[in-house]
Amino acid sequence: SPILIDSVLLCSGLALVHFWLLVSLNPCAGAPDPGQREAMMRQEASQRTGGGLVLTPAELRLDALLHRLKRQEAGAAPFPPAMHFFRARPLIQRSPIFKLLQKMPKGGALHVHSSAMVSVDWLVKNVTYRPHCYVCFTWGGSVRFLFSAQRPFPRWDCFNWQLLASLRAAAADPAELDASLARNLSLFTENPEAAYPTQDAVWDRFDDAFLAISGLVTYAPVFRDYLYQGLEQFYADNVMYLEIRAGLSRTYELDGSTHDRTWSLKTCKDLSERFRAEHPDFLGMRIVLSAHRVLGVSAIKAAVMEAMELQEKFPDVVAGFDLVGREDEGRPLWFYREALALPARLGVTLPYFFHAGETDQEGTDVDINLLDALLFNTSRIGHGYALTRHPLAKDLSRKQGVAVEVCPISNQVLKLVTDMRNHPASVLLAEGHPMVISSDDPTLFGTAGLSYDFYEAFVGLGGLSADLGTLKELAMNSIRFSSLSPRLKDRGLEMWQKKWDEFVAKSGE
Ligand SMILES: *[C@@H]1O[C@H](CO)[C@@H](O)[C@H](O)[C@H]1NC(C)=O
Ligand SMILES: *[C@@H]1O[C@H](CO)[C@@H](O)[C@H](O)[C@H]1NC(C)=O
Ligand SMILES: *[C@@H]1O[C@H](CO)[C@@H](O)[C@H](O)[C@H]1NC(C)=O
Ligand SMILES: [Zn+2]
Repeated sequence: SPILIDSVLLCSGLALVHFWLLVSLNPCAGAPDPGQREAMMRQEASQRTGGGLVLTPAELRLDALLHRLKRQEAGAAPFPPAMHFFRARPLIQRSPIFKLLQKMPKGGALHVHSSAMVSVDWLVKNVTYRPHCYVCFTWGGSVRFLFSAQRPFPRWDCFNWQLLASLRAAAADPAELDASLARNLSLFTENPEAAYPTQDAVWDRFDDAFLAISGLVTYAPVFRDYLYQGLEQFYADNVMYLEIRAGLSRTYELDGSTHDRTWSLKTCKDLSERFRAEHPDFLGMRIVLSAHRVLGVSAIKAAVMEAMELQEKFPDVVAGFDLVGREDEGRPLWFYREALALPARLGVTLPYFFHAGETDQEGTDVDINLLDALLFNTSRIGHGYALTRHPLAKDLSRKQGVAVEVCPISNQVLKLVTDMRNHPASVLLAEGHPMVISSDDPTLFGTAGLSYDFYEAFVGLGGLSADLGTLKELAMNSIRFSSLSPRLKDRGLEMWQKKWDEFVAKSGE
């Protein structure tokens, strides 16, 4: 070879022979030790969520299948996790991975809001078709609903109430009327980039959709059926337990009379028990009472006091307390420190489940919520989107076992992240940070249950590295990090394991 000839000219004969032998006999000379490389890869894989689990032969078979499917999905364009969920949804619905995730026993959904827990379809097709449903179109082009025995009086945001049944009967295209109602009750749209150019724009619509929904679901008879339907939809998606953030504003009857929070909690308790009686493999539903973070300190004090009372009255149902609403617009947790310190001052245990770090605005007062949530001994962190930017908070949350409730679709629709592969929780997943997956507001995001968020987490956040062990640990985490008593957690894990084994046996074939 030319090198050899050049070398002959340059080197002494002996050195050349030595050099030539080395290169020809060991082509890897100078390269790192492959054994060491293997060990490093194994060590890193073991750190990921589920990386410490030893899979059974049946699980390994299913894992191999999942891996194969993931490679196909990652190789195909377009790749759903890289797209806006509203565009990706039809692709995800056709994905064989998604179909497996639907069948997978996912444990509990620990971060879901009571006013957005069913599919928008059910709200339109069932709730708005009930008698005495009045509708009003606001100046801003949105809708409000009210069930009433008589035509409701005009109010500041609503001038002209019409009976929806009459409107439908007179409509040239009733299907289009229903579609427009659905658009008002949800954020789902074909062209999300144009509809929601900024975080402000999407949050405006988000808040408005909640106002539209509230007239429907705070009607007492609907409230009952609605919660039941919520449980049905999660159960149908193989979720066995729910923790619901609920403000529990007053519910009303046709004659305008109202019920208070005690009535609503009693209803939740009865429903959860009825549902459990009818579905013995369901663990139940618990409520995290929540107040809005635009309120003043005294209002939050009152809310905290009431939460302590209700927790005492309904210990099986009330899990704790949270503050909800857009963090960037609301007051930081520290603003409420006096109110939030009340339970500790009174010697009462009121667990907190704070939304914290649902922001991309590093360094703002709100961005400190993560540290404050931990200072107030939060049991879990809602979203924690900013956690990777707070090394101390991250470390504490890990050491104290304060799990992060990751809701990928919510974060994308509310414009914190575009491509799911760049979601910060992908780092947390790679590190095995305590974490659960949840769906936040299915009604608003055009989903139902939990499987869509599991898909985004598994395929998008986890990439090719996340495996069946990851899914298994995420599901178990949802019971481990729930607010259930140790006894119920044990029972829940046992029930879950049975379902899991059946799922693995059926799906891996
Ligand atoms: C709505 O759902 C309830 C069950 O939750 C059912 O009894 C009722 O018939 C449904 N109504 C309509 C209009 O579909
Ligand atoms: C809400 O409904 C009204 C009335 O049908 C419609 O004009 C409006 O476009 C809808 N809003 C959205 C966001 O689609
Ligand atoms: C948080 O927990 C620590 C340690 O148990 C306790 O000392 C502190 O009072 C708690 N803080 C609050 C606000 O509950
Ligand atoms: Zn939330």
